[in-house]
Amino acid sequence: MKGKILVVEDHPSSRAGLEALLRTQGLEVASAGNAKQAFAELARFRPDLLLLDVMLPDLTGFEVCRRIKQDAQTRLTPVVLVTGLSATEDRVQGIEAGADDFLTKPIDRSELMARVSSLLSLKAYTDELERAEAVLFALALSIEAKDPYTRGHCERLAEYSVLLGEHQGLPEEEITALRRAGFLHDIGKVAIPDHILLKAGPLTSEEDLILREHPCTGEQICAPLKSFRAVLPIIRHHHEKMDGSGYPDGLKGKKIPLTARILQIADVYDALTTKRPYKPAFPPTEALDVMEDEVRKGWRDPLLVKEFRQLVEGNVNLFAPESQPETGATSPREFSPQFAWHDYFRKILSWRGAPEID
Ligand SMILES: [Fe+2]
Repeated sequence: MKGKILVVEDHPSSRAGLEALLRTQGLEVASAGNAKQAFAELARFRPDLLLLDVMLPDLTGFEVCRRIKQDAQTRLTPVVLVTGLSATEDRVQGIEAGADDFLTKPIDRSELMARVSSLLSLKAYTDELERAEAVLFALALSIEAKDPYTRGHCERLAEYSVLLGEHQGLPEEEITALRRAGFLHDIGKVAIPDHILLKAGPLTSEEDLILREHPCTGEQICAPLKSFRAVLPIIRHHHEKMDGSGYPDGLKGKKIPLTARILQIADVYDALTTKRPYKPAFPPTEALDVMEDEVRKGWRDPLLVKEFRQLVEGNVNLFAPESQPETGATSPREFSPQFAWHDYFRKILSWRGAPEID
């Protein structure tokens, strides 16, 4: 068995016993006697799994677990709560804190090893999935970085879409999909030659046909990841129009998925409020007027545009890009902690010599 386990147990002999048992299975082990040490070891040792005693001298195991699950850096690390308590309410409290599994004292050796083995396999799978997702996000950011005028666009788009989705009361799964789609919606552009993608003048009809392939190409790129299931319709349909004149499927009205209609609105608003080679940055009120013109043309969802206007007018600071792309300043507000690694990939891109994204 391979993996790194952090044992958090205040009782020295129990801690030593667990450490010894796990080491005999070939596992790497670190330990902590209280919550403070546990957080320090989490940062230093980066375990694949925690065995966490519920009764600690400084914080309860429930609270430690809750903090681990709220932190973007550690939320995917499985936590097994080790408890002497068997009452249902303690299990409920553990589940609410985000615990992945439970062990009751005295710990049964074979039960312990079975759970450790199963959770380590799950963690290995999650790590693999995270790596695949991270590659896709890095790819999407590298496409964005090609065009200095769209720097920061994906991040703002994700942010605006999430705000509008939350305003609509969408479930968490769709909010997550909107956040991801903000970055990934144009990933299919990786297959578009630069002379088309970066062309300053109007496209020929042949070039336009090639550009119009990007929603389907993007869907194909992301399709193998099951966790991106809710993102696929947004990627595929982000260029549809309410009157059916969009692409790739010419969907009309509510046949266009709601999440795709939301992303479009955020996309258009960001394009209007930032400077492009062919236009200045419009102030928010002017951008909203243009979007209402597009409603009259039959392109956008009238109700969503109306609600977006209310949202922007009530939160102007969240919807005003603080900078134009060429200034290199940061995005409107700190991004969601779930995307803390986004900064990491921005660094990777800059190390590789790609232009700074923000
Ligand atoms: Fe697009």
